[in-house]
Amino acid sequence: MKNTEKHPEYIISATKDFSEATNKSQLDSAKAMYIGPKSHIYTEFKKLSTLTGQPRADLGRQLNNYKNVLDQLYRSALDRISGGSDFEPIDMSQPKSYKSIANFGHKHPTSQILSDSYDIFTGLGFAIVDSDEIETDWYNFEALNMPETHPAREMQDTFYIEGSKINLVPRTHTSGTQIRFMENNKPPFKIVVPGRVFRNEDEDATHIWSFYQLEGLVVGEGVSVADLKGTLLRVVRGLLGPEADIRFRASYFPYTEPSVELDCKYQGKWLELGGAGMVHPQVLLNGGIDPSIYTGFAFGWGVERLANIKYGLTDLRELWRPRFSFMEQF
Ligand code: PHE
Repeated sequence: MKNTEKHPEYIISATKDFSEATNKSQLDSAKAMYIGPKSHIYTEFKKLSTLTGQPRADLGRQLNNYKNVLDQLYRSALDRISGGSDFEPIDMSQPKSYKSIANFGHKHPTSQILSDSYDIFTGLGFAIVDSDEIETDWYNFEALNMPETHPAREMQDTFYIEGSKINLVPRTHTSGTQIRFMENNKPPFKIVVPGRVFRNEDEDATHIWSFYQLEGLVVGEGVSVADLKGTLLRVVRGLLGPEADIRFRASYFPYTEPSVELDCKYQGKWLELGGAGMVHPQVLLNGGIDPSIYTGFAFGWGVERLANIKYGLTDLRELWRPRFSFMEQF
């Protein structure tokens, strides 16, 4: 994906026309010219139907960005004019050069994936739950069926905090929040928990020592693997488009039974996304929930990994480097 070009001429002239409009009729004609059905951007949008695959995704993303800029220009001109004042309202929180569209900025790709995820999950009735980045050994491991000697601890390259009396760790995953939430809430519930996790990894293009996970937990009566699969398919399609697909591969996590590895298919390629499974009865018990009445499913995936898949990144580390030429491509 490459998009290093500067903003096109019509965005530059739209910026000028919208900000120079002083009355409703000037604004209406600027609106018709730049965002109406006969506008340049609409003609561009029509070109999308002649493209497929990556070029279509790239052009779509770029046009949507321009469309957002145009909409924003229109809305702020409308606010200014309908405010009935000759003075443009001053937003003290805006950077000095906010009139220059080059400085509008945008969400970081990780934030973009997270906010798209919140839209999709809240649409499915999930609540978004906050959590702490420092966790006790009990919540991060023990309560999830990983006692001190369990080999699964090895998989998570833990950073330990020296000298902490209650065995605190920078959490290696967001799964500890499953227990914390179960302790304080009665089923049925559906939650997602976003947050940073930390692992003592040697960094390379596909591994970073701190990244975001999105954890999901659903507990209720009669919750089944079919619910797990249906939910994940819906979410993955919501994030990556209707052509995306998912598959499960048998796996092992001490806190789910059965456990699966979740892969998603995007633009013809299968890529690993995260782990999932039915909540282990002992984990429900540890959270104070009766496993003879309730069942549940849980999943967790890497947010940067999704950004990687969606935006076709080749090096995850770029997401955390202050390099504008990289960030400006999104
Ligand atoms: N915690 C697992 C990981 O970090 C993912 C997972 C979450 C697996 C929930 C199963 C259930 O890899």
